[in-house]
Amino acid sequence: MSKNILITGGAGFIGSHLVKYMVKSHPDYNIINLDKLTYAGNLENLKELENKTNYTFIKGDICNTELLSDLFARYGIDGVIHLAAESHVDRSIRDPFAFAHTNVLGTLSLLQTALVFWKNDFEGKLFYHVSTDEVYGSLDTGEEPFTERSRYEPHSPYSASKAASDHFVRAYHDTYGLPVVISNCSNNYGSYQFPEKLIPLFINNIKHNKPLPVYGKGENVRDWLFVEDHAAAIDLIFHKGTTGETYNIGGGNEWKNIDLIRKLIEIVDRELGREPGTSDRLITFVTDRAGHDLRYAIDSSRLRNKLGWSHSVDFDEGLTLTVRWYLTNPEWLERVTSGEYQNYYQEMYINRK
Ligand code: NAD
Ligand code: DAU
Repeated sequence: MSKNILITGGAGFIGSHLVKYMVKSHPDYNIINLDKLTYAGNLENLKELENKTNYTFIKGDICNTELLSDLFARYGIDGVIHLAAESHVDRSIRDPFAFAHTNVLGTLSLLQTALVFWKNDFEGKLFYHVSTDEVYGSLDTGEEPFTERSRYEPHSPYSASKAASDHFVRAYHDTYGLPVVISNCSNNYGSYQFPEKLIPLFINNIKHNKPLPVYGKGENVRDWLFVEDHAAAIDLIFHKGTTGETYNIGGGNEWKNIDLIRKLIEIVDRELGREPGTSDRLITFVTDRAGHDLRYAIDSSRLRNKLGWSHSVDFDEGLTLTVRWYLTNPEWLERVTSGEYQNYYQEMYINRK
């Protein structure tokens, strides 16, 4: 059955993988990608979709309710997959208001627009909110992984803003009956990730012989998932998930930062034909991130047992693929690090008209 799906934040890291996945796997769906193109949005990530007839890009802000109403009316939106957000913890420590604005007020604006347009007939409608495991706070070593019943205990302005948005999504379900579903995912890695996040930043620094700033002692633990496995999980939950339900998504793949960094060094040195251990000297321990969560780990048994999801890419394979992608796409990295990528919208969507 044909659907008109609004995906927000589709020019970012996970969003661009999801948009490509949905456009290709569901040729009968119209995918409308709404993205403000902040520093994290890059239309080059979506280059391969330029001639697809079931794909439309709209540059705009999720806080703009007039624009949202116009899009719901114009495209007859019957599904929303909401990813647009400020997503970097370090930035949230420097500028928490930007996070409250987009992540909380933006989500609320989308919820309210969906409610106004769908309230007379919720049949076939779904508001899917993409969230993070960081809302559950931090685990000690040896503690059981987060389940969907874990208490919300965010520590950073970023995770606090995502927690607030999750609460609003549930409130719209419980109060107004809006059909919603939420997923909380662990750390993603893969191609097209903005090089402020650990993995792409460190690949780029190793390549250019620049210091690798390891926060604290590098003992924090993250649970890593290949981004395409996240996109597949979102598609599955969107189609088969139970309304009102939450699903945790994780890689079952916990790594201490310092061990992951040593593994990255090994792969990058190998791929560049350097002697093993060449880049070890780049490791530089720096002041820890304020409020740095020690450990995230996700129990995804609900998603596995009820919907039959499993990840398809193991970490060795995924990390090698990821390193190769950044090393064989130096132009992408250079355009992002120089800021040139921000002209792409101008060239693609304004100059050609
Ligand atoms: P990202 O920072 O790479 O991309 C965010 C996108 O949202 C960008 O394209 C940006 O332009 C857009 N955007 C920001 N503010 C906007 C606004 N006001 N209106 C419209 N568009 C706006 O983020 P990401 O890492 O791809 O994360 C996407 C979503 O997944 C976020 O909601 C994040 O909280 C969640 N998430 C991320 C991870 C991860 O490991 N990266 C893990 C779990 C959940
Ligand atoms: O868990 C899901 C979350 O994962 C998402 O919700 C966030 O959007 C995403 O950014 C990510 O958050 P993290 O803070 O875990 O990711 P980041 O890549 O910033 O950092 C990963 C770990 O590496 C973390 O423990 C901090 C550390 N780190 C990070 C950077 C950028 C360093 O030691 N040095 C660095 O320079």
